[in-house]
Amino acid sequence: MRPHFGILLGYFFCAAHHVVSSPLMKRDADFNDVKTRLKSSNQKVDASKPNKYFHESAFHYHYDGRFADKAPSDGMRQVHLRALIQTYLATMNDIGIETFLMHGTLLGWWWNRKIMPWDSDIDVMVSEKSIHHMAAYYNMTVHHHRIPESGVSRDYLLEVNPHYTNSDWDADNKIDARWIDTDSGLFIDITTLRRNTTAEELGIHGAMSVKDKHHYNYDDIFPLRITDFEGSPAKIPYAYSEILVEEYGQNALTDSYFESHRFDSSIKQWVPKPLPGHAGGARFRESFAQGD
Ligand SMILES: *[C@@H]1O[C@H](CO)[C@@H](O)[C@H](O)[C@H]1NC(C)=O
Ligand SMILES: *[C@@H]1O[C@H](CO)[C@@H](O)[C@H](O)[C@H]1NC(C)=O
Repeated sequence: MRPHFGILLGYFFCAAHHVVSSPLMKRDADFNDVKTRLKSSNQKVDASKPNKYFHESAFHYHYDGRFADKAPSDGMRQVHLRALIQTYLATMNDIGIETFLMHGTLLGWWWNRKIMPWDSDIDVMVSEKSIHHMAAYYNMTVHHHRIPESGVSRDYLLEVNPHYTNSDWDADNKIDARWIDTDSGLFIDITTLRRNTTAEELGIHGAMSVKDKHHYNYDDIFPLRITDFEGSPAKIPYAYSEILVEEYGQNALTDSYFESHRFDSSIKQWVPKPLPGHAGGARFRESFAQGD
């Protein structure tokens, strides 16, 4: 880990803060201060959202245009995604950030502790205490990792949204932080699970919310369970199966045919399997004991 970009930049932003109130001031860190291999930025700027901090590339919403100018092939994307989550989990574990898998990533964990082959992003949450810790000590830090699978070395940038201090619903700033691959531009959106004091005052004990409008109960999430994902130490919510059923339905935990893939229980892998042509796209189930 080496803290770098942004010592000067931070000063510039602080200084500018008192002088002007340009509507674009809250944008993600300036291209010239973070650029790696590109000559110009491919970020898309939406002038109608002056308060939106994080931006995405003009070519695809899962990429940061400060670092990439095109999306890789599907196969390469999966390689980058795996490296992204492995490096994220390892780093968060090292620096003491409480983070856990959610949504599609948690579903992937449920089947075989891996990213599902058709998934194009990764979903994680952090606790409130951890987002404060990240903002105070790790904003704009760059983390160097050697990726075992490819043998290449990569720098990952941890950038924290200054709007993280606002816990209200904010459509433009649902993402509190990003873990960004500064080579491929692929990133992980990090959201914060917070106590919802409004709901608590209404008598909902343990009410918790995420800025993207997901709601949970404290006891569904904590204590987190310790496990592993893509070979790295990971945490998952306590009531993971209830959370998955609520979000995806009971079938998501039992249907072994999905998105043109079949779950092969002998090798514990999703393998490509186009549905039989004559079946007209019908889905069918295979019953097997899902051992874990
Ligand atoms: C993190 O640093 C960037 C770049 O200096 C800045 O734009 C952003 O406001 C900072 N975030 C926090 C939480 O201070
Ligand atoms: C907190 O709970 C209240 C009442 O249920 C709800 O209206 C509000 O949207 C919640 N806050 C967030 C950030 O989701």
